[in-house]
Order: sequence, then C-alpha cells, then structure tokens
Amino acid sequence: MATSSLQSPIAKRLEGKVAIITGGASGIGAATAKLFVQHGAKVTIADIQNDLGNSLVYEIGTEHIMFVHCNVAIEFDIQNAVDATIAKFGKLDIMFSNAGIAGKPISSIVDVDYDVIKNVFDVNVVGSFLCAKHAARVMISNNTKGSIIFTASMVTTKYGDTLHTYAASKNAVLGLSKNIGVELGKYGIRVNCISPYAIGTPLALKAFGIAVREMVDKWFAEAGNLKGALLEEQDVANGVLYLASDDSNYVSGLNLIIDGGYSTTNVALTEAYNKLFLSNAQQ
Ligand SMILES: NC(=O)c1ccc[n+]([C@@H]2O[C@H](COP(=O)([O-])OP(=O)(O)OC[C@H]3O[C@@H](n4cnc5c(N)ncnc54)[C@H](O)[C@@H]3O)[C@@H](O)[C@H]2O)c1
Repeated sequence: MATSSLQSPIAKRLEGKVAIITGGASGIGAATAKLFVQHGAKVTIADIQNDLGNSLVYEIGTEHIMFVHCNVAIEFDIQNAVDATIAKFGKLDIMFSNAGIAGKPISSIVDVDYDVIKNVFDVNVVGSFLCAKHAARVMISNNTKGSIIFTASMVTTKYGDTLHTYAASKNAVLGLSKNIGVELGKYGIRVNCISPYAIGTPLALKAFGIAVREMVDKWFAEAGNLKGALLEEQDVANGVLYLASDDSNYVSGLNLIIDGGYSTTNVALTEAYNKLFLSNAQQ
C-alpha cells in the first residue's frame, strides 16, 4: 500500500552536512544540536561546559555528534575545534557561532567596569571573529559553499532593554556578519544572524538575577507582543535550521528576528495616554 504524504517521515534537511555549534552544551545551542542531528547532520559541540557537553553526546550518540572543549575567546581552541571536526567528519558546511555571555547586571553607563566590557567582548565579539575566520579558512580551501550563522539578539533591533555591554557586543556581531557576508559571497558562503527575543536559559537567568525559570517565562510572556505564546529554544533552533539548510540557498546578509513582533512595537505612547487621561477620567 502506498504511504500517504501525510504519513511519510519529515524530509531530512541537513543530510550529509557537518556543523559546529559553539555554546552547544546548553540552551539554544543544545536544542539546535539535537535538531541538526534529527535532520541528518554530523555535529561538533564546542563549549566550555565539559560535563554538559559530554552528557549531550551520550544522549544523542557518538556516531552523530562529538564534544570538543573550546573557549571561543581563545584562537587555538577554535582552530582545534574546526580541525577536529574535519578530522572526524571530513568537512565543515555549517558554523553556528552561538556561544555568548551577558555580563554583570548594571543600571548605568557610569558604573560600567572595564573588565566586564572586555570579558563580554572577548566571548561575544572576538569569539565570533575567530569562528568566522576558521570556518572560512576550511570552507574556502575545500570549496565548500557553507553557511555561517551568528546568534545576535533582539538587542540589535530595540534599545534600552538590556545591559550596555551586551547590546554593544551583539550589534558588533551583526555588523561583523554583514561585512564578512560581502567578502565571502564570492566563494558562495552565506553569512546570516539570528536574533531571538528573550528565553529563560541559564544566560538570561544570570543576566536578570532571577533563579527560577518559571518566573522569567511569566515575565517574558507578559512583555511579549505575541500573546498566548512563549518563545522557546526550539523556535530559535527551527530558524537556525532554515539558515543552515539549502532551503535558504540564496539568503545571505539577513538578521532573522525571532521575536513575535516585539521589535515592531512601542507601546509607550498608548501607556502614557492610558495613565494620564483614562485613569483620570475614571476617577
Ligand atoms: N536567552 C536569551 O534570552 C537570548 C536572547 C537572544 C540571544 N541570546 C544568545 O543566544 C546564545 C546562546 O545563549 P543561551 O540563551 O542558549 O544561553 P545558555 O546559557 O543556555 O548557553 C550559552 C552557552 O554558551 C557557552 N559559553 C559561554 N561562554 C563560552 C565560551 N567562552 N566559549 C565557549 N562556550 C561558551 C555556555 O557554556 C553555554 O553552554 C548567546 O549568544 C546569547 O547571547 C540569548
């Protein structure tokens, strides 16, 4: 009996492709690693959290995925992650430069600390440079029409919601991605960013100093534009899958915003109107 198209398994969109995911031991990176493997890719997780990374490999299976200890701020570590991937899986098609930190919560530019600026820029910006450099090195020499994807953030579209260091670093990542996309276009290498709204991953819990995920989930849902929905790691992973796969064959220079329309809103005028006029009228 013929299988109906509704019953057939989903097409694997990354069959034969090899990916590196930095920050792949947790959050968005871990969800993307699982999705990439489901879609037929071989994956290297490059992260500083050895136990978490290794347990993900154990869960998924060593024939599909490996863990490499990698601090993205150290060039040798990135070079090693790329070279280990080539040695095990033979090539590199996708670099998902996703590792990031938020830095210490501060309220004013007056209080910003040099060491915090340096640390956030070392991981978020220098790390992105190094990922792109070493991915491009092997993609160009192997003539691979690869895909380089950076995790930026909604802070590239809307300002004042988060820390200055974090916002500045993610805008640097967006600028970097667009600039190298122009250079690498001649090799057929695509370069894009993905910019999620807020998710209660360990990074976000630390940034806002809140210990319980349910509390930040409630806050992010309340502040979101799309009501009755909560952004999850899987939603971002789905966007990364699009940018990594041949479905986005002619897409380069994009900042794919996954924010339920949050960046298109500014409710300040309406809220001030309601506060000043409607509440007075009701008194
Ligand atoms: N959670 C959010 O609200 C949100 C929103 C927009 C963008 N982002 C971005 O998404 C990316 C992933 O973060 P997440 O939210 O999944 O958080 P997460 O804390 O779950 O994951 C971050 C991962 O990066 C790793 N990492 C940190 N420093 C590293 C380094 N020097 N070298 C290698 N790995 C390192 C961590 O070990 C961790 O596994 C980050 O770039 C973050 O800025 C997050």
